[in-house]
Amino acid sequence: MNKSYQKLIRGNQIYSETKVFQDPEYFKNLAKGQKPDYLWIGCSDSRVPANEITNTQSGEIFVHRNIANLVVHTDTNLLSVLEYAVKYLEVKHIIVCGHYGCGGVLASMTNTYHGFVDNWLRNIKDVYYKNEEELMAIHNKNERANRLTELNVLEQVRNLAKTTIVQEAWSHRELHLHGWVYGLQDGLVKDLSVIHNGQQDIDSIYRFSFNGEKVKIPVKKSSVPVTKLPLKKTQ
Ligand code: CO
Repeated sequence: MNKSYQKLIRGNQIYSETKVFQDPEYFKNLAKGQKPDYLWIGCSDSRVPANEITNTQSGEIFVHRNIANLVVHTDTNLLSVLEYAVKYLEVKHIIVCGHYGCGGVLASMTNTYHGFVDNWLRNIKDVYYKNEEELMAIHNKNERANRLTELNVLEQVRNLAKTTIVQEAWSHRELHLHGWVYGLQDGLVKDLSVIHNGQQDIDSIYRFSFNGEKVKIPVKKSSVPVTKLPLKKTQ
């Protein structure tokens, strides 16, 4: 049997001993409970570990990761993590962090069949389809993938803002949603400078009313021509 997994056990012993050496109370304090300020929604990619790339410690970031950092409004796993983080841990910031060179994004740009995962990546294909004009104008394939990575993060931040969980929090407190992209090449985070702070940042049809107040939904001019129906003759 391949015993390479034992490297992890040995690594853990070194980790534990080092922490206790630096601060004998380290684990005792951590065991008391957690009060992280941040929820991180990132990619499962082994090269983008939330704590390590942000130079933070255990207890500072609540983490959810999936392939290509997607926020799917029917994903019970993500919604449970989100509700717990927002309602009970009362995190102040939620960060959706994508990364350049994301295998999920690259796979979504091809017509290759990969298996079940293609149903998951379909969400990124929808982002591509929505932004096809902009993406088709970028001729360099890598640059196009990089832009899709950014557009995907922006879409997932919007998806986050549309959830009842985030909006319910907004009805009585501050909560900030951020979109970042991490560079595997230089280890640096690019802040996409998109911050959602409240319901004004989402289209009105997605807004929920929590205080019995009416949500104003402006009538949008439809791009589809309205067919004039013949009026019924009344007697
Ligand atoms: Co990825």
